[in-house]
Formats: sequence, structure tokens, C-alpha cells
Amino acid sequence: TKEIIIAPSILAADFARLGEEIVAIDAAGADWIHCDVMDGHFVPNISFGADVIKAVRPVTSKIFDVHLMIAPTDSYLEAFAKAGADVITVHAEAGPHLDRSLQAIRALGKKAGISLCPATPESAIEYLLDRLDLVLVMTVNPGFGGQSFLESQLEKISRIRSMIGDRPIRLEVDGGITRDNAAAVAAAGADTLVAGSAVFRGKSSADYAGNIAAIRIA
Ligand code: DX5
Ligand code: ZN
Repeated sequence: TKEIIIAPSILAADFARLGEEIVAIDAAGADWIHCDVMDGHFVPNISFGADVIKAVRPVTSKIFDVHLMIAPTDSYLEAFAKAGADVITVHAEAGPHLDRSLQAIRALGKKAGISLCPATPESAIEYLLDRLDLVLVMTVNPGFGGQSFLESQLEKISRIRSMIGDRPIRLEVDGGITRDNAAAVAAAGADTLVAGSAVFRGKSSADYAGNIAAIRIA
């Protein structure tokens, strides 16, 4: 079985000290740094964009996993690539030309991902498997951290695990992940776990290593 990757979401970090927060989760054992980009249009919240990612990129050498909750998508891909994203994930619901978006991400030399909202069936990726490096199953409705995990998505995770077969595609889950449900999502087939509030809770960097370890051990 593949090793589990834990990707803390910096959406839950203290934005006034964003660079220090990333250094802290790096030291605390984060595998990837998950960056939630929200545009106030595709989702009902605004977070940060490519310039903020570029500003904090130098503080760690870990993978930057950029989750774009924006529409349209294609006109911004180059900016996120130049900002230092390693993985760029677009939403299946963000536009009609996903095949083109995925080709564009790979042409920029980056890993390409697709994210599915809770209401979107796994069939959305059926004809895209050969263009994908990652599939992201949202286990909350995107837009905010701190929401509760949607059990309905466990079945989708296991169906996508079967669709992936032996392709080198990571299966990531995002939303409401805690030490209490991490085992269930991994058992369903997820190999990459995003966690925001469960890692940053308490806002004390002294707790981050314990919080990440608790999810990993689970
Ligand atoms: C939701 C974001 C998630 C979220 C995770 O729109 O994509 O990455 O911040 O935060 P928690 O773990 O608090 O649900
Ligand atoms: Zn996310």
C-alpha cells in the first residue's frame, strides 16, 4: 500500500504569520502544503491568490498542493505555476473544458488534479484518467474550513479507488478530516489527507506535530 501523505491546509493558519505557520507545519511533519484558493464566485468565500503563494514559497521545500476553487480557471494556471505550485487541482464543476485545463497544467510542467464537489459523481473523471496525477474528493461543500465530514463521500472514494486501478494517481480527500475519521477514509482508498482545523486547532504551533501525528497514526 502507498504511504499516506498528510497535507495541512493553510486556510486554517494565522494569515498574519503565514510564513512562520508554514515553517511550523513543515517542522511538525507535514508532507505537502495544501493551499486553498477561493474567488468569491465559484465558492462563497475569498481566500488568497498566486501572489501570496509566491511570497511564502521560499520558506519550505515541501510540495505545494494548490486547490483552485475558482472559475474560470485556465487564464490563471500560468500564474499559479510561476508562483511555485507543484500540484494544481481544478474543479470539475468550474468549466466545460476540463480536458484542456489538465493538458495546460501538464504543459506548464506541473502535476494535474481534478476535484469533485460532494454532489458530483465519479463519472466526471471517467475520460480523464490518463491526464490525471491526482483526484481530490471534497468531503465538505467547498468554501470554508471547519465544516463536518460528509459520510456520503466514502462510497465515492472507494469507487474512484477502483477506477484508478494501478495508475499512478493520488486519491486525496479534503474537508472535515480528523483523527476520528482518518482511518475510514484511508480504508475507503484515500492516500492523501488534507486537514485544516484538525492541524491548526488551538493556533499553537506546539500542538501541530501532535495533531499531524494523531491523523497519521489513525
Ligand atoms: C474547503 C477547503 C479545505 C478546508 C479544509 O473549501 O478546500 O481544504 O480548508 O479544512 P478543514 O480540515 O477544517 O475542513
Ligand atoms: Zn482544499
